Amino acid sequence: MLQKTLSRWLVCLVAVAFLTGCPKPATERGQKPAAHTTGPATAEAAPSATQPAAPSTTEQAAQPSEAQPAEQPSQAAPSEEAAKPEAQQPAPAPTQQEAMPAPETTPPAAESQPAQPAAQQESAEKPKGEVSSQPAEKPADPQPAGAQSAAPQGTPYEVKVPLGLPPLPIPEDNPMTVEKIELGKMLYFDKRVSADGSVSCATCHDPNMAWAEHTPTSKGIHGQVGTRNAPTVINAAYATSQFWDGRAKTLEEQALGPVANPIEMGHTIEGMVQSLDGIPQYKELFQKVFGTGVTPENFAKAIAAFERTVLSGNSPYDRYRAGDENALTEAQKRGLKVFEESGCADCHTPPLFSSYEFYNAGVGMNKEKPDEGRKAVTGKDEDFGKFRVPSLREVANTAPYFHDGSAATLEEAVAVMAAGGIDNPHRSEEFDTVREAKITPEQQKDLVEFLKALSGEYPKIEPPQLP
Ligand code: HEC
Ligand code: HEC
Repeated sequence: MLQKTLSRWLVCLVAVAFLTGCPKPATERGQKPAAHTTGPATAEAAPSATQPAAPSTTEQAAQPSEAQPAEQPSQAAPSEEAAKPEAQQPAPAPTQQEAMPAPETTPPAAESQPAQPAAQQESAEKPKGEVSSQPAEKPADPQPAGAQSAAPQGTPYEVKVPLGLPPLPIPEDNPMTVEKIELGKMLYFDKRVSADGSVSCATCHDPNMAWAEHTPTSKGIHGQVGTRNAPTVINAAYATSQFWDGRAKTLEEQALGPVANPIEMGHTIEGMVQSLDGIPQYKELFQKVFGTGVTPENFAKAIAAFERTVLSGNSPYDRYRAGDENALTEAQKRGLKVFEESGCADCHTPPLFSSYEFYNAGVGMNKEKPDEGRKAVTGKDEDFGKFRVPSLREVANTAPYFHDGSAATLEEAVAVMAAGGIDNPHRSEEFDTVREAKITPEQQKDLVEFLKALSGEYPKIEPPQLP
């Protein structure tokens, strides 16, 4: 018994060292230190492991006031999670619980933060995609921000997820509001985000080209050409990582990348912020939406919120799945069967038609200096030439294909895939299933027909009026 108490204290001490605020309840939590260590650890690992320079520098440099509220929720989460079990399981330490005026101390604690678990559950469970944003805003405000910068709420925006798509994940610290999305849309189309005012996000992710671009690789500022094909922004909101190599974790993290990329928009983050901040209407809009001037974080948040409205579903495939037998042609039905039975669906997993895992398909591996792909992010040799499985929704509208844009047509891309990729020392063995299925030329045609059935409805919008 004595030993137990001692070890509990020890655990608490350790916990104190990790977390600033190991609350008293930790004494009762002796047996659950995992919640402490894993919580903060992952919270820290996430940003650093993914995007190199952009987010970390901006967090420190530009926006100390914003950095705090952003961090707080993630800290609140573990301690709160930990607080829950204790409220729910009086079992481990009944005597202590009884000794304390438990019913009075725990409820307030639980009540002060119920917004967060509720919000999490809601966005995780809500069926038809009306993931509402208001509850998510709450946890960010009451605690940390307090007097400093209580961000204005704005008009909550309910995302209407099209038929066939799962509920949309929305980060707690970036709830969707009408005003924020409007602002994000302006920024997305504004060429003043680039160093010489020649390139906007829409240049390479053009709504009229299914939010992608019909060139193998993109031309950025001063006509410089990159090495990778611009993926569509459609449904990027669902991806568990961003970029072909997954080097950014979220849309928020991604959005600053192109700004400072020398051959994309060629700007510096500070320069971009300065020039936008010099435009009175932007200043006003940022103030209205975030309660701050133009900041890198809020630039990214606004664009990400806008991108989360760019979804495609309600395709013939989705209608077929929903029970409309006539939504697919006979060829498409045959193609669907091949797709499912020969292993395509293992990687291009419905409903988003991507598992968002990384594989080496052998594309571009015969170049003199092949693109390292995922290896550049993880440093692991086994990740050489691996790229994130692209979603196949709207794929018929986003030619050319592959990370280097080397397949001009859908037929070509399917032929490469049907062969189980292209041989090279790093080809992923997961392609063997497809290879062994020995897909015939006829079946390839059916596959192509089937992929056309993944084109549905997505927003086709005109550039907004800019400030
Ligand atoms: C010069 C062309 C160009 C510009 C300008 C550009 N992008 Fe991109 N974008 C690309 C390319 C190329 C990639 C893939 C790069 C990679 O994987 O390394 C990409 C990747 C992305 C992705 C990841 C999609 C996915 O499925 O992984 C998103 C989201 C995105 N861009 C949004 C934006 C936003 C927002 C802006 C404006 C702030 C922007 N892009 C500006 C070319 C561009
Ligand atoms: C082992 C996982 C895996 C399997 C199995 C697989 N794919 Fe892929 N697919 C990928 C990856 C990874 C890429 C991107 C490769 C690259 O760009 O280097 C890709 C790219 C594609 C593309 C190009 C999409 C674009 O936007 O560039 C199409 C089309 C495609 N696959 C269709 C199929 C079909 C059809 C099958 C079944 C015959 C299939 N894939 C099987 C992983 C897989």
